[in-house]
Amino acid sequence: MCAWEQVDPRPGWGYARAMSETRHKSGAPWRNFYGRFKAKGLRGSQQAYLDEDLPHLSSGPVDWEENPDRTPLDLAALFGERDVWLEVGFGGGEHLVHQAEANPDVGLIGCEPFINGVAMLLGKLRQSDATNVRVHPGDARDLFDVLPDGSISKAFLLYPDPWPKARHHRRRFVTPEHLEPLHRVLKPGAEFRVATDIPDYVRQTLEEVPKAGFDWLAERPGDWREPWDDWLSTRYEQKALREGRVPHYLTFRRV
Ligand SMILES: C[S@@+](CC[C@H](N)C(=O)[O-])C[C@H]1O[C@@H](n2cnc3c(N)ncnc32)[C@H](O)[C@@H]1O
Repeated sequence: MCAWEQVDPRPGWGYARAMSETRHKSGAPWRNFYGRFKAKGLRGSQQAYLDEDLPHLSSGPVDWEENPDRTPLDLAALFGERDVWLEVGFGGGEHLVHQAEANPDVGLIGCEPFINGVAMLLGKLRQSDATNVRVHPGDARDLFDVLPDGSISKAFLLYPDPWPKARHHRRRFVTPEHLEPLHRVLKPGAEFRVATDIPDYVRQTLEEVPKAGFDWLAERPGDWREPWDDWLSTRYEQKALREGRVPHYLTFRRV
């Protein structure tokens, strides 16, 4: 079950709901996060991936406890002179690994707070030759704080949590709280891809993303009905297709 399907998020289920307008002891702002950090228990092998692989695949000090001054990450130390791409909410990591394998001359940062998903990514990376992936196992907003301005050449937001109820639309990623810092960390001219199967998410994306300083690049219906040439269908997309929902592929350029 996904976070937005849950009617009664309760502490102890891995849900965190924080008050706004105040701060943690570490200095971190309280940021409402309604998703899941963890679901069922991890298999022994998955716990081993987290313990053994995550430290050396880390994107660097992102959390407030380890980086209270919010010192920008040293991306050159991670990737040298390579372009850096970002995938927000990579789920099980299949698309991230696919892009990393197809683009060895690029560095990729994946960000995902759901630790079971992070473990799945690490399992896939063990089976892959890709060495150009780094991981932030947490909220994209904390990562945005410490990414240098104009440092990311391409960003992917693939099947973000849909939050279908009208009163929950402000929890969606396509809101100024996320789009403004995303705009800041993207290079001018950078591509921003959004995939969603929810018509009302398309509506909100087409309203909010241009307002945040992006051009929508579609010129004909095929541009949003057909996937990108280098697309790999994600787990969530497969579920949407099985349930009869229609994918939309929206491509923006940061102005
Ligand atoms: C519907 S799932 C889609 C996963 C994957 N992209 C796919 O297509 O299969 C949305 C994902 O976004 C993640 N997510 C939600 N809020 C996030 C945030 N603030 N920062 C990063 N990821 C987030 C969730 O944990 C979840 O894994």
